[in-house]
Amino acid sequence: MNENCPTFRTSLLEENVGPGHNPTDNPTMGELIAARFSRRGFLKGSLAVSAIATTVSPLALMLADDARAAEKSAFIFEEVEAGIDQHDHVAAGYDANVLLRWGDGLFPDSPEFDPLNQTPESQARQFGYNNDYVGYIPIGGSSEHGILVINHEYTNEHLMFPGIVKIVKDDKGKDKLEIVPADRKRVDIEMAAHGGTVVEIIKVDGKWQVVKDGKFNRRITANTEMQLSGPVAGNERTKTNADLSGKKVFGMINNCSGGVTPWGTYVSGEENIQGYFLGKLPEDSKEAANYKRLGIPDTSYDWGNFHDRFDLSKDQNEANRFGWVVEIDVNDPNSIPRKRTALGRFKHEGADSIVARDGRVVFYLGDDSRFEYVYKFVTAGKFNPDDRAANLDLMDDGTLYVARFDIDGAVNWLPIVFGEGPLTEANGFHSQADVLIETRRAGDLLGATKMDRPEDIGPNGVNGKVYVMLTNNSKRKTEEVDAANPRAKNAFGHIVEITEEDGNFAAVRGKWEILLKCGDPSVAEVGASFSTDTTKNGWFGMPDNCAVDADGRLWVSSDGNSPKETGRTDGLWAIDTEGPARATSKLFYRVPIGAEMCGPLMLPDMETMMVAVQHPGDGGEDWEGFGRQSYYEDLSTRWPDFKDNMPVRPSVVAITKKGGGKIAV
Ligand code: FEO
Ligand code: CA
Ligand code: CA
Repeated sequence: MNENCPTFRTSLLEENVGPGHNPTDNPTMGELIAARFSRRGFLKGSLAVSAIATTVSPLALMLADDARAAEKSAFIFEEVEAGIDQHDHVAAGYDANVLLRWGDGLFPDSPEFDPLNQTPESQARQFGYNNDYVGYIPIGGSSEHGILVINHEYTNEHLMFPGIVKIVKDDKGKDKLEIVPADRKRVDIEMAAHGGTVVEIIKVDGKWQVVKDGKFNRRITANTEMQLSGPVAGNERTKTNADLSGKKVFGMINNCSGGVTPWGTYVSGEENIQGYFLGKLPEDSKEAANYKRLGIPDTSYDWGNFHDRFDLSKDQNEANRFGWVVEIDVNDPNSIPRKRTALGRFKHEGADSIVARDGRVVFYLGDDSRFEYVYKFVTAGKFNPDDRAANLDLMDDGTLYVARFDIDGAVNWLPIVFGEGPLTEANGFHSQADVLIETRRAGDLLGATKMDRPEDIGPNGVNGKVYVMLTNNSKRKTEEVDAANPRAKNAFGHIVEITEEDGNFAAVRGKWEILLKCGDPSVAEVGASFSTDTTKNGWFGMPDNCAVDADGRLWVSSDGNSPKETGRTDGLWAIDTEGPARATSKLFYRVPIGAEMCGPLMLPDMETMMVAVQHPGDGGEDWEGFGRQSYYEDLSTRWPDFKDNMPVRPSVVAITKKGGGKIAV
């Protein structure tokens, strides 16, 4: 979801981007950017390009880049033309086949998808809505047979359900969608369409298919039984009317991005949890400040009208049981997913991990709201490749760190540990559990750097770098600009590259620089910093998800490009990070009108790229090809089926080279 996305769910979107909930005046370290400019010789440093680009026209930069950009990109393919229409488009010479659509059966007994007669029971046996993260766990080491894991982030009722939308006029006389309040059945379908999917897939004659009777197949929903584990499990603040143990939770919600651990489990980040809660806390509630910091309640959904646990007036603590990273053991479809509380509670985007040199495992974590923080978690124990069972609780014990990006190009990882520094009784923390439940406040007190909406963070095991997607932040004022977030009203986002000290992902410090500032490089005021090899099709805005392939190449997908914002749909962009072609971007795949691009996932053999097309058809009023609000009865696209009796369907797409072979080489 994105602040520029023309969806009707505006309240949820507003909170997603954080309506100024970070109340601190933590230094935006680049307040001293001017001081930095005055320092002799700093232009020789690795930060020179990013620093210059805050004040110098990108066109001038592009001229300076001419020599280096003449070199070849690491990606070899014929770029797609950027644009907007009802279809998806992939680079010439590639096939993009839909593998899984919303409503597709996942089990031998799954009912056929019937959008006019959907039920909660059917939905719980079918592929869910709004696929975001896509991960792959090989079976027997294969890149042609494995388990696909997919997050179902949220639901768009106006695209899913017939007969619930009216077009009305807003204050300015503009058309707007009005949706009838949900009944119990609709709420229960929505809950069943959230969560995740675990499904066996196999490539037969070069084409991927779902194994419907796969023994690993599983749907996880907003009602699946889970356990809180780690420091917060059993805490007073997680005990509810229905669960006096403070450990037994039902469901995961708004799971955005995620990861696959080195031991082959599926991890999934709960992001915008605020939208699912309604009602008022009692006046004397101790959770008021905690919930305010996360924007709870937001009342985007009607669930609390039918399920008391989502009504704050009836249950004060349920919301403390959401906002975690969830780990799912895919080997056993009856395993109980664990909410790994040691990784903190905030609006979790993803949880990509990598094994550090000494065997500890490092998870990189973004908190996706404006002015929120970048985190990493380092396990206390070491990964043992020969003992899967011994790895299964690694995520319960370790150290969570929050990032401070310093003016001199250093990044410092500050430990979030009860009793250390300001994280004490004096500041209202009584235990590590308290610190983790209010992770954002801990980050405030530690002086972490307020970032431009941290989304996916991708560690790269080939070159030892880490890429941080910062999607945008239109609320950053000129006086709040800093070195790591160098643009005021940052409409198009940027990518920060971290090099951990001595190439050790578990290090507590490193260096950072800006890889890329996004937006149209031909408009000087935008201040974008793509290389001059980047064509008019190759630039983009709003980086969101990312993937690093087996060759260490970076792929970035976007959320928020639109006719109005950038004159193009979202897509998958190949970005050079090394050598003279650094910061060259090329468009490999683009989505239909109204969609955002999620995934992406390159399989280990580099012969398949999986991508997730989320909320296609959500919008179209700013596109001349449609020009009005899009909803179930009048859709801006009917991708991927293009049948009159089928609504638009979020889908996972498998991209392969015609005739086989590695992608983009
Ligand atoms: Fe769900 Fe941060 O995007
Ligand atoms: Ca998104
Ligand atoms: Ca995202």
